[in-house]
Amino acid sequence: MMNTQARSETVAPARALGRLAPNIPGDKSISHRAVIFAAMAEGESHVTNVAPGEDVASSMRCVAALGATVVRDGLNVRIRGGAWRDPSEALDCGNSGTTMRFLIGALAGRGIAATLTGDESLSRRPMLRVAEPMRELGAVVDTASGGTAPVHVRGGHPLHGGHIVMKVASAQLASSLMLAATGANGRVTISGAGTARDHTAKMLPHFGVAVQRNGDDIVVDGPQTFRAADFRVPGDPSAAAFWLAAAAIVPGARLVVENVNLNPTRLGFVDALERMGAGVTITVTAEEPEPMGHIEVSARPLHAIAIEEPEVPAILDELPLLGIVAAYAAGTTTVRGARELRVKESDRIAVLVKGLRALGGSIDEVDDGFDVTGPSTSLGTGSVPLRGATVESGGDHRLAMAFAIAALGASAPVTIEDSGCVAISHPSFFADLEALCRG
Ligand code: S3P
Repeated sequence: MMNTQARSETVAPARALGRLAPNIPGDKSISHRAVIFAAMAEGESHVTNVAPGEDVASSMRCVAALGATVVRDGLNVRIRGGAWRDPSEALDCGNSGTTMRFLIGALAGRGIAATLTGDESLSRRPMLRVAEPMRELGAVVDTASGGTAPVHVRGGHPLHGGHIVMKVASAQLASSLMLAATGANGRVTISGAGTARDHTAKMLPHFGVAVQRNGDDIVVDGPQTFRAADFRVPGDPSAAAFWLAAAAIVPGARLVVENVNLNPTRLGFVDALERMGAGVTITVTAEEPEPMGHIEVSARPLHAIAIEEPEVPAILDELPLLGIVAAYAAGTTTVRGARELRVKESDRIAVLVKGLRALGGSIDEVDDGFDVTGPSTSLGTGSVPLRGATVESGGDHRLAMAFAIAALGASAPVTIEDSGCVAISHPSFFADLEALCRG
């Protein structure tokens, strides 16, 4: 089924970039939510500009196995949801942590019995962070001995209300608990989500579910029913980040990415680029249900910055890319409080360190982050910080794309092994990159 490990791609240094970035895919986080919420609603929902990658396809496949009717037409999907049934086979979540974690909560809330499995990478990722708080609400959820998939949600255990204090500030966990709460008999209060992305709390009301936010707490009064709704998915800031990074490191570049989700919980990378000295202009075109608009970045001399723990949630998925940009920024950029990177699709700190070193970059690894030292003088002075080499993606889409961007400012082409994994979030990435470099 999934063939994300295959292929290698070679990316040449770029002399110039086009002014208008290629269209970016619909936001992956928001697409998962729209698909799963629509599948929980009676009636037909239309979700447009859905993310084209394998991750969201995993969510669609799983909700179809649970009884929803999913009809896909290119980037648009019609979903008829409602009551779910126990699936006859295990739900294969592929590479998608979001699919697995969201479904654990949704299944527990609905009293559905199911087994959730995933690929090799997902089968290594921590699931106890979801299973344990679900048990506090009365669910019976078992994991494999290491706290990993396969995860078994036992049916027929009604949930009660409760106050969950999350040990990890994870949007996936908070979302899973909110979905469970919609099936609970009573009030569920969730503390500890901090500044993690808040798409679920923003989108649930659009699908008829009331969510209160009291300071840092999220409150859902169960039980509640979902209402079918139409939803247009904005462009993915995590996909836009690669084009914006390219504009920041290719001398003389200036480009705009259009129709990007501008939710502040996702804009840490754009803030970081600005703090590093890149020219950044944001134009807001819509506010509801998610803010959206255009982002323009122009290359200017870059300097190092420090990222500390409180800033991590808003830049979480872009931190490996930040490590690449830091190799082009004068001074030592430091990232701390990001231990979560070690339990993503790969150990993103380890894969970044290995790849950046192969490219001649200077990077030091710490348990919860890394330090990257760029050239002593910044761009535009003739120094080329990185060289050509072959690097491994670790089967991780975000690392494969980050190394491709690294190549744009390097002295010679970079070959990325296991590059097929870009299909997880951005199947046309390499073709789009080529178009961008043609101008
Ligand atoms: C996501 C939340 C983040 C992020 C992931 C998508 C989401 O994970 O890294 O790519 O859609 O809620 P955590 O919630 O585990 O931090």
